[in-house]
Amino acid sequence: MKTTIRTLFNKKEKGQKITMISTYDYLSAKLCEQVGIDCILVGDSLGMVFQGKDSTLEVTVEEMIYHTKAVRRGAKESFIIADMPFMSYQVSVEKAIENCGRLIKEGGANAVKLEGGEEIADLVYKLVRIGIPVVGHLGFTPQKINTIGGYRVVGREEEAERVKKDFKILEEAGAFMIVLEAMPTELAKELTESARSITIGIGAGPYCHGQVLVFYDLVGLVEDIKPKFVRRYLNSAELFRKALEEFKRDVESGSFPSEEESYG
Ligand code: KIV
Ligand code: NA
Repeated sequence: MKTTIRTLFNKKEKGQKITMISTYDYLSAKLCEQVGIDCILVGDSLGMVFQGKDSTLEVTVEEMIYHTKAVRRGAKESFIIADMPFMSYQVSVEKAIENCGRLIKEGGANAVKLEGGEEIADLVYKLVRIGIPVVGHLGFTPQKINTIGGYRVVGREEEAERVKKDFKILEEAGAFMIVLEAMPTELAKELTESARSITIGIGAGPYCHGQVLVFYDLVGLVEDIKPKFVRRYLNSAELFRKALEEFKRDVESGSFPSEEESYG
């Protein structure tokens, strides 16, 4: 059965936690759907995790479409949210609507995610009325890395007021879900308690309506960086290395391929 916005709000209303995984490819998306993850985010973190770049800033609309299509092939029934990359929605409302529309029409996403608050409110309002559900993203927003000045918690002390204001503005504009990244637990709790929307936390404590992690973080394939909020459920990098070493050894020793692995 297809997961829809209604499915997600029904879970929220019943007090059931919502699960989200950020991933970029067919095979991992298929695994997410098989185990009943509620929604899949095609995150622009793919710029770092998949492409190996230093930030998410260079990711393009074309790349997001490419990955969203791959994820959709693996997860036909899932609710898929596509991240809008940096500068694909900031230049003008018209250009933004066109780009968001492409993620839905060509990529096969059900919704788009945009970083920011007040500065995107007009766009959010228009998208929702057009029929494109919008997910917001507050707290630490990686596309603003240069103005925030590196990776840090956002929303302590006076910054909390700004976050609260942006949260309200996003909800009023019609965002149905808001990702809260790297913010104090108490702030995320307060936002969640009075929320009309669904809050999804990542480094925002346990009180959000749901939680998101990046697939390659949770399976332990990402080794060089491990933010405080990542829980590794598997050490797959180690397992992959072992498999590769065995393959190398078997080829070099001549034991691969065997007769059964060859055509007579
Ligand atoms: O790009 C991404 O994967 C994200 C999540 C971590 C929220 O934005
Ligand atoms: Na992102």
